[in-house]
Amino acid sequence: MSNASTARPKKFTVPRFLASKQKKQKITMLTAYEFLSARILDEAGLDCILVGDTLGMVVQGKSTTLPVTVDEMIYHGEMVARAVQRALVIVDMPFMSFHISPAQALENAGRILKETGADAVKLEGGLNQAKTIEAIASADIPVMAHLGLKPQSVRAIGGMGKIQRDEDQLIADALAAERAGAFGILLEMITAPIARKITETVTIPTIGIGSGPGCDGQVLVTPDMLGLNADFHPRFLKKYADLASEMTSAVKAYANEVREGAFPDESHSHT
Ligand code: KIV
Repeated sequence: MSNASTARPKKFTVPRFLASKQKKQKITMLTAYEFLSARILDEAGLDCILVGDTLGMVVQGKSTTLPVTVDEMIYHGEMVARAVQRALVIVDMPFMSFHISPAQALENAGRILKETGADAVKLEGGLNQAKTIEAIASADIPVMAHLGLKPQSVRAIGGMGKIQRDEDQLIADALAAERAGAFGILLEMITAPIARKITETVTIPTIGIGSGPGCDGQVLVTPDMLGLNADFHPRFLKKYADLASEMTSAVKAYANEVREGAFPDESHSHT
């Protein structure tokens, strides 16, 4: 009997992530926060799944990512990692989990890797977090940097729309992250020409969101690209489904059938 159907798919590892840039193969990434969605994303063949601290907003309904804790990231990260066979699972380090010292960051990154089974962590920052990235990477914990719009800086920059767009500073940040040992850089809401220049400058892959087509890969927040967040229509977002409408129709149909006595019928009953 062939075991082809039960064979584990070949894992998308950090070395494969790095090699994708050399091979000019675009890297695909979406966010996930729980088991079933993570399994669908993985089985659909995505390269990377990010357990983003956006869970503070799209799962918990909060207005920023600031309240998210390490324990919450571990709770969601573990569910996602358990569902995934192939994709590289990256878990965000939440606000104040890496800011106090490189030692604090290393301890939290280690907890995240050990307690979730994920493959890597991501943190917001570049040059300002170089020592922290170095500490984490030197323990062989793969770490991705995050530049441009940094939602954890929302209080300091005065709003989610305020983005660091100084080209020289962004390139210095990207090079510092690469030198410190980051295996990739997420570029959020950077102009397309600057994102392309950063991508051409560093040897590690860049993953863009709202940063144009010149990055080595792309990420979107899954509930946004599936159209679950009906009021959210930023220019960079392409909605690949309208699940809010589909879910509303399904829930209404169910409620109507229950009220009318049409469900459950005999075919959905044990006799
Ligand atoms: O937390 C998150 O989901 C992110 C997005 C920018 C993809 O970092």
